[in-house]
Parts: sequence; structure tokens; C-alpha cells
Amino acid sequence: MTDAGAGTGVSPDVTGRRIVVAGATSASGTAVCAALLEAGADVVAVGSDAGRLAELERRAPGITPEVCDLADTAAVDALAARLGAGGGIDGLIHLVGGWVGGAGIPGQSEEGWAAMERSFRTLRSTTRAFYPALLASPAGRVAFVSSVSVEAPTASGASYTAAKAASESWMRSVADGFRRDAESESQASGGGAAATIFVVKALVDERMRDASPEKTFAGFTDVRDLATAVLGLWQRPAADLNGARIRLPSRP
Ligand SMILES: NC(=O)c1ccc[n+]([C@@H]2O[C@H](COP(=O)([O-])OP(=O)(O)OC[C@H]3O[C@@H](n4cnc5c(N)ncnc54)[C@H](OP(=O)(O)O)[C@@H]3O)[C@@H](O)[C@H]2O)c1
Repeated sequence: MTDAGAGTGVSPDVTGRRIVVAGATSASGTAVCAALLEAGADVVAVGSDAGRLAELERRAPGITPEVCDLADTAAVDALAARLGAGGGIDGLIHLVGGWVGGAGIPGQSEEGWAAMERSFRTLRSTTRAFYPALLASPAGRVAFVSSVSVEAPTASGASYTAAKAASESWMRSVADGFRRDAESESQASGGGAAATIFVVKALVDERMRDASPEKTFAGFTDVRDLATAVLGLWQRPAADLNGARIRLPSRP
């Protein structure tokens, strides 16, 4: 799409953007997809399971579902090439997660680390594959969700937090790439891309609240607030967002 605001310091808008939500079938993915659709974006929702994507489509009609194992780097490259051939990509919202814990450092299992490494690989593969399209976009944005545990790692969550710390480092490298490429004359067609880290303690949604009405979920971030933060990526200039680590609001 054309872009009056790109590269001028004026905030662009999400309307008409083509945005890939990677790992879209959880409650957070549903909230993000629904908010993006409502704001007028063209949403490509990616998950590994066709059944769960069909369920997402019932909850968020209008998405374009794509089945892809995002831990399979070749499959991610093929997906990015196929989507890129069909038009520009303006956003990548990475929501693939997973959690493992263990009894102290000796309890950090190989299986648990393998799962965390797979999760990190999905971030590395998707950002690498979609990087050229995001850079070429008038307002390319990529975001992933990290954890407060990176600031205070525990023994029991060592593998999980190590993968999140690696993911944050990778995202800062992506931000550095965007900054350097934006400065190069050869990328003058782009409007300024941004890589942003969101940080939460934990996420909560309506189903969790209904299942445990006695719980306060203090410090948790509602998935609707995550969705609002995603929309906000297209309400601020790239320079404000690129490399930023943003703690998302939580409700008391
Ligand atoms: N939930 C929390 O309390 C919390 C706390 C701190 C940080 N975070 C972070 O916030 C983000 C969203 O959290 P979440 O709990 O909504 O995430 P999640 O449920 O752990 O994962 C999101 C989706 O990723 C998809 N997925 C997993 N492996 C995949 C693969 N190989 N290829 C394609 N899709 C895959 C899953 O869908 P399919 O199985 O259908 O493919 C799943 O619905 C994550 O980065 C998470 O680490 C969450």
C-alpha cells in the first residue's frame, strides 16, 4: 500500500497492512488476529495444526490460515517466498511460545531444552525469512513476547529463560539490521522497519478467568492488552520502536 506517513516521522496506520501472525491459535493469537482484522488489516494466521486454525477462523473470520511447522526452517523459507510472491508483508507478530521448568539446574532436561530451542528457532527462522519483505514495506514491524524472567532468572526456569534471553538478543540484532539497512541508499524504498520486544510476566484471557474466578491474576497481562500493543506498532514511528523492550501493562 502507499504510505503518507512512512519515513516522515508521522505515524502510519494498520489499515490495509498485510500482517503474518506466527503461532496464531492460542488465546493470545486469537485476540491479536481479531484486533488486527477489526482495524482493517489483512491477517495471515500461521499454525502447525489445521484443526486449531479452523477453530481460529471460526473465532476470527476473515483470517487467511496457513499451516506451517515454523520449527522447520525450509518450510518457513518456502512460506515466506510464497506469501511474498502474492504481495508485500508489513508485519510479523511472533507468538510461538511454550514453557518448561525443572527441579533446579540438574532438573533442566534435554527434552525441555530441545523444546525451547525449537521455539527459539521459529523466531530466528521467521524473522530471517520475512526480513527482506519487512524492510521493503512502508512500515515493516516485527514483535515477539518475552518474559520478565530474563531480568531475574531462576534455577527452575533456566532453560526457558535462556531461550527467551537468546530471543531478545536475536531481536536486537534484527533491530540493528533494520537500522543499518535503513541508512543504506539501496534500501531507500522502505519506510523504516522496527523490531520490538514485548515483555510480560504471564498472559491471561477470559477462559482462564472463568475457570478460576477466585484468582486475581495480579501482574498478568490480558491478551486484549497485548492485542492493543500490537496495533500500537503502527501508531508510532519506527525510530521509537526499533530495538525497544516494552513492558506491557498488567492489571492489579
Ligand atoms: N502464556 C504466558 O503466560 C506467557 C508468559 C510469558 C511470555 N509469553 C510469551 O507470549 C507469547 C504467546 O504466548 P502463548 O501462551 O499464547 O503461546 P503458546 O500458546 O505457547 O504458543 C502460541 C501458538 O504457537 C503455535 N505453535 C507452537 N509450535 C509451533 C510450530 N512449530 N509451528 C507453528 N506454530 C506453532 C501453537 O499453535 P499450534 O499448536 O496450533 O501450531 C500455539 O497456539 C509466547 O512467545 C510466550 O512465550 C507467554
